[in-house]
Amino acid sequence: MLKDTNCGSLRAADIGKKVVLAGWVNRRRDHGGLIFIDLRDRSGTVQVVINPESLDSDYAIAESVRSEWVLKVTGEVTARPEGTVNTGIDTGEVDIAVQELEVLNAANQPPFYINEDSDVDEALRMKHRHLYLRRERMQRNLTLRHDIVKYIRDFLCERDFLEIETPILIKSTPEGARDYLVPSRVHPGQFYALPQSPQQMKQLLMVGGFERYFQIARCFRDEDLRADRQPEFTQLDVEMSFVERDDILDMMEELYAGMAAALVPDKTVNRPFPRLTYAEAMSRYGSDKPDLRYGLELIDVADIVLKSEFQVFQTALSDGGLVKGFAAPGMADLPRRQIDELTDSAKSRGAKGLVTIAFDGDWTDPKELQEDQVRSPVSRFISIELMRELATTLGAKGGDMLLLEGGPSAIVYAALGELRQEVARRQGLINQDVLAYAFVVDFPLFAAEQKDGRWDSTHHPFTSPFPEDIPLLATDPSKVTARAYDMVCNSYEMGGGSIRIHNRELQEQIFRLLGHSKEAMEEQFGHLLSALESGAPPHGGIAMGIDRIAMLLAGEDNLREVIAFPKTQGATDLLFEAPSPVGQSQLDDLHLRIVEPKS
Ligand code: AMO
Repeated sequence: MLKDTNCGSLRAADIGKKVVLAGWVNRRRDHGGLIFIDLRDRSGTVQVVINPESLDSDYAIAESVRSEWVLKVTGEVTARPEGTVNTGIDTGEVDIAVQELEVLNAANQPPFYINEDSDVDEALRMKHRHLYLRRERMQRNLTLRHDIVKYIRDFLCERDFLEIETPILIKSTPEGARDYLVPSRVHPGQFYALPQSPQQMKQLLMVGGFERYFQIARCFRDEDLRADRQPEFTQLDVEMSFVERDDILDMMEELYAGMAAALVPDKTVNRPFPRLTYAEAMSRYGSDKPDLRYGLELIDVADIVLKSEFQVFQTALSDGGLVKGFAAPGMADLPRRQIDELTDSAKSRGAKGLVTIAFDGDWTDPKELQEDQVRSPVSRFISIELMRELATTLGAKGGDMLLLEGGPSAIVYAALGELRQEVARRQGLINQDVLAYAFVVDFPLFAAEQKDGRWDSTHHPFTSPFPEDIPLLATDPSKVTARAYDMVCNSYEMGGGSIRIHNRELQEQIFRLLGHSKEAMEEQFGHLLSALESGAPPHGGIAMGIDRIAMLLAGEDNLREVIAFPKTQGATDLLFEAPSPVGQSQLDDLHLRIVEPKS
């Protein structure tokens, strides 16, 4: 090794030792004669002091050194002089008195600061990813990611799981997104698909008798990107035979709670993780991935508004919809412009508008609410008695503002679910030190019926319905509940899974409802259907987003900050400049011809 000690490891106890260090120049200060360099390696930084009197090598070299140059330093660990100890860093009690200095490599001036966490333009950050990775924050995040995966591996290996790899070149497996396709050279006109997940393969491993499988699996989905979505991402993929739902949920709770306690001990995790049904999550929080770090539950006020003169809500109810709302604490004085922003947010989720009712005064008992303390565009349609009832039901006090929404349930939930988040953010109700995990269970098996009578799976086609709901498949598929579950945390979906169908007849019935003909079924899923007839054990599993848990535990709000080489919002890699055109001979090999898009 070109070094025998890590920079960040040096402490007062090392004073007097002779060390060989190697690393990058984090910062350099020339004090006319004495040159101070903060030398950085993965472990941290230490201050090295170059004194022309005691330097054996050429002092001119020391003078030429600049930020990000790579140095090898031989010297003695010394105590910092009185008054110069830096308590802000772990190595702040010592210096290295340099005897020999060797430049291992020079560096161009970096396009942004490496030694501070200042904002860097996205394009620059991606283009010079190798430099951005040197930043302390990225070193910390990728170390944490490593620790997460190691924790998972240790945990599952202790519980008798086998890690088994599955192929990347496969046949399309439906998970709801578009596939990335790979053309075959050997089979002209034919394509492999990159796996959106190893779903079918892990089920086949259960048929293959492995009973307890896991994999840290790379997945590929060509879908619209968001802060928490990358086109290629990593899952912890798990599958078990002879298992019931709660076996899987209990184990995942132990894994995720244990991981947080070990890796981010300052965060609070509430146990047991609440288990909410999908219907309950929607009704109480307007979301199937509710943020449970704060209250602001949605409350039904249909009974109250029915007694009012407010037509819009009456119509929403007579059309089979809902009227729900919540009290936004301390928001009575929200300026007009910000109320408009909340209304626009509701409209962007499909709502026609948003009803706001501001309560002035400092009362806590709604009986004390007076007419002149109510400010609302709908106050003339709702009597003061009904206003008091609303305040009681929604738990409001003076200084609060009610936010009410009426309409079809899907729109009311979407609009209020989002408003809950916005109010919590504006009012500082979110405790950043809490990881509020929960399981959402009992999803509907099907999402929506298409115009042509086909249904869409909520999760994927291999999800088992509850046995008692099977007769409903023939009569009212919309009422069938799936044995599916998600793990959520702080408004993110962390993972999802289900108990699977393990019998051919039921799997075929589901495929038929999804609109597959007998031939299409055989063509696309023949391998799975035949496996289900060959002694498939009852089985189930889950897949957890590794990038998402790393993002959450690192306290980041974008997956890019926990992935070494991520893609941009436009699914490009600016470092390698991928995707990129390829030469004609490669296209010829693959039997491909480019059709230019029509302009
Ligand atoms: P699902 O599609 O819900 O389930 O994916 C499981 C988890 O993977 C993560 N995830 C993503 N992370 C980053 N970028 C993406 N584009 C992305 N898409 C998904 C999420 C999500 O909860 N085969 C099933 C699992 C099963 O049934 O066992 C599946 O893949 O955290």
